[in-house]
Amino acid sequence: MAIAARLNRGETLGDRVMKVDHAGEHGAVCIYRAQRWFARWRAPDMVTELDGFLAHERGHRTRFAAELERRGQRRCRSYFWCGLGGFALGALTGLAGRQAIAATTVAIERVVLRHMEEQLRVLDGVDGDAATALRLTIADEQEHHDLSMTRLAEGSVWPRLIDPLVATSTEAVIWLGMRL
Ligand SMILES: [Fe+2]
Ligand SMILES: [Fe+2]
Repeated sequence: MAIAARLNRGETLGDRVMKVDHAGEHGAVCIYRAQRWFARWRAPDMVTELDGFLAHERGHRTRFAAELERRGQRRCRSYFWCGLGGFALGALTGLAGRQAIAATTVAIERVVLRHMEEQLRVLDGVDGDAATALRLTIADEQEHHDLSMTRLAEGSVWPRLIDPLVATSTEAVIWLGMRL
């Protein structure tokens, strides 16, 4: 399946995907920064795990930033808003505690993994550097998803509250980023 995008002049689909993913990773960094801050009080035993996630997300952001720099492309117009939205979501769910924190990661990674795998399918063999960046990132996101799944208690109400909110906003951010 093709990926829908409105490209600027001189911009490739790989360029645009790097831009959108770079902005998304910035959002992820901001989510974990905010969650970590509240987790020190609400879920202290999760802080080390959140530190690990945060380090990964910073690495992803740097990886996509390096790709943009090499391509002479600017950051996505949505970059600032991804950060702000991420921070708000991270603060809210961090305040709500461990189940909300785990449910957020599961919900986000579910959407992100689906998109990144689609991006990889389309760019593999077309844009080797973008494909490599995606492949490396997907491995970490899968780990975040799987680990957070094990943190969710059976019958927890949080996924039902957080899933629709996070899925809708993540989809909206990606949709906008591909068209702005
Ligand atoms: Fe990431
Ligand atoms: Fe992640």
